[in-house]
Order: sequence, then structure tokens, then C-alpha cells
Amino acid sequence: ETVEWEAASYDMGGHDTYMHKEISEQPDAVDRVLRGRIDDRFSTVHLGGLNLDAREARGIRRVKILGCGTSYHAGLIGAGLIESLARIPADSEPASEFRYRNPVVDPDTLYIAVSQSGETYDVLAAVQELKRKGARVLGVVNVVGSAIARETDGGVYVHAGPEVCVVSTKCFTNTVVAFALLALHLGRIRDLSVADGKRIIEGLRKLPAQISEILETEDEIKKLAAEYAEAKSMMFIGRVRGYPVALEASLKLKEISYIHAEAYPASELKHGPLALIEPALPTVAIVPNDELLEKNRAALEEIKARSGKILAVAHQEQEKADHTILVPKNEDELDPILMGIPLQLLAYHTALALGRDIDKPRNLAKSVTVE
Ligand code: G6P
Repeated sequence: ETVEWEAASYDMGGHDTYMHKEISEQPDAVDRVLRGRIDDRFSTVHLGGLNLDAREARGIRRVKILGCGTSYHAGLIGAGLIESLARIPADSEPASEFRYRNPVVDPDTLYIAVSQSGETYDVLAAVQELKRKGARVLGVVNVVGSAIARETDGGVYVHAGPEVCVVSTKCFTNTVVAFALLALHLGRIRDLSVADGKRIIEGLRKLPAQISEILETEDEIKKLAAEYAEAKSMMFIGRVRGYPVALEASLKLKEISYIHAEAYPASELKHGPLALIEPALPTVAIVPNDELLEKNRAALEEIKARSGKILAVAHQEQEKADHTILVPKNEDELDPILMGIPLQLLAYHTALALGRDIDKPRNLAKSVTVE
């Protein structure tokens, strides 16, 4: 049965690229990461391989997430989810930076290694260094039985299925959903209420259909991409939950289209990058309908006042934007999962318009197993 599953997964299935196939698979992939894990009776989730009992979970004082590239970005959203749902201070850091700064290893910190392949050298070396110092390390990994999965004390499999395109799309989304499950689990052991647990579970269940809804807007995004493909450089902005979405969208664009892009917290614009804003530098802005909506709108006004072109990803039409890509609303905490998806398609169609080798971008490898 395993063999059949793998053969089917490596087939292009009518798509021109693996990236397009993998973007399209996301509703099913998200369904898989949720399957069998939700416990409606206690408004929580069961994570069979976590290896962390309730008493230990209550003793965690801090969470440190480590990964590289897209996995590091998934970890940033994961840290936000853990902070908001479990109220444990959490952050994500590139695994290589962590390794090289002789980090303070603290027994009350839960370390989490994130990796699609489970083989990235910098992440593996960070795990080994942490284990050597007696830390507890979990993995959020896609490839079952990979080196990082084996060397960690337990963890959550992401169940995205095989990902072939060098740049990660479905695994990124599934990793973030896996973090939502972990955050919900830790939250419900600590202070997250039954009502909030239920609210998040309902939100999680809506994700596959909402992702399908976004994927249906592909033609519209393709038209936008043709327009933005002329840019030499692009700015991506977001605030708090939206900032890691901006980081990942900017990475995706530069990896496959080779257009220079950078991501900034919207609040930092005025401390420097505003100097770059002019008609030739388009900005992609993440503008969810949450408590920061007015703040985000103010940033759009600042950009418009300098004649900057704006593409907003939002829950409602943004007056200051030249174009708005509308996405369905979920719970505030889960919105980042959906807001990244149209920007995968934007990067894809921009790269396609520029004739790039999408599945194998120059200078990059799917997994970097050397230092
Ligand atoms: C490489 C790939 C990236 C990926 C990173 C981490 O640099 O080009 O797309 O995000 O490795 O890979 P991992 O398998 O650890 O998630």
C-alpha cells in the first residue's frame, strides 16, 4: 500500500509543475494533518507521538522553535500560535544562527525542531547540540523516520505527503496547522477555555474548504501576477500575525521568480524602508480584519501618499490598495494560514510569466544536508 501511495504522489497528475500540483493539494493535505487528532469531548487534540505528559506540559516556561528557510517561517507563525493559545512565551530562530551563538540551554524550555525533509544539517546539528546538553527537543517534521524525527524525543508529523518542488508550499501550510494543533493541545492543558478550544477546532475544520475557495481565484491572481512581474523589487508588509506571512511570501517570490523582495513589519516602515517607496516599488500588504486593521490601513495610507502601488491580501476591499485579493475569514489566530495561500499563487504565476524553472530554481536544493 505504501508503494502505491508513493507512486501516485510522484505523478504530476495533469499539472505542469510539482509546485502547482502541491499548491492544489493543500485542502487534502490539511485534512490529513487534522484527521484523527481532534477530541470534541474535551475541545482539544490528541497528538500520539508527542511524548510529553500533562505535568511536563504545565512545567514549560518557554518554547524555542528552530528551522531553516520556509520551516523557520512556519515556526514564526507557530510561535505566535503557542503564545496566543497556550500563553507560553515562544519564538522561532534560524537553526544555524542558534547553533553558532553558544545558546543558553534552559531545562524549562521546550525546543522544537521544524523540518520538511527531516534531514537539514543545520537543524539536525542544533538538535544534537541540544540533546547533548540535556534539553527536551520535539520535532515538527514531514518525512517519517527521517534523521530529525529519529533524534528528537517526540513530535508531530505534518502529513503533507511527498513534496517534490524545491520550494515548500503544502508542507509550509501543514506545518503551521500542526503548530495550531500543538498550541491548542498545550493551551487546553493550561489556561485555554473550553469555549476557545471549540472556537479553534471549528476554525481548523473550516480550513480545507476555505483553501479550496482561495484556489478557485487562481485566474484573477494570474492576471495580477502578469502585472507585478515587471517589478524589479517588491516590498511585503504585515503586522504581528501578518509579518511571518509577509516574510514567507517574500521568500517564495525571490526563490522562484528571482525578483528581489523584502519583508518588513508594517510598523517599521516609518523607521527606514519608507524611503524606498515610489511608483516602481510595489508593496504587498497583509491586512486581516482583526484588532490591527486600523493600524494596517494607516500604513497603506503612508504608502499611497508616496504613490506606491499596493496589492492587499485582506478580508474586505481596501480602498487605498490598487488591488485587493479577498480571502475568507477564519478565527484571528488561524487567518495567517489562509493569507499565505494566494501569495503562493502570486509567486508561482510571476515566475511562470518570467519563464523561470519553477520546480528547480537556480542555486537552490530541496534539502541542504551539508554545512
Ligand atoms: C532548503 C530549501 C528550502 C527549505 C529549507 C529547509 O534551503 O531550499 O525550501 O525551506 O531547505 O528545509 P527543511 O527540509 O528542513 O524544511
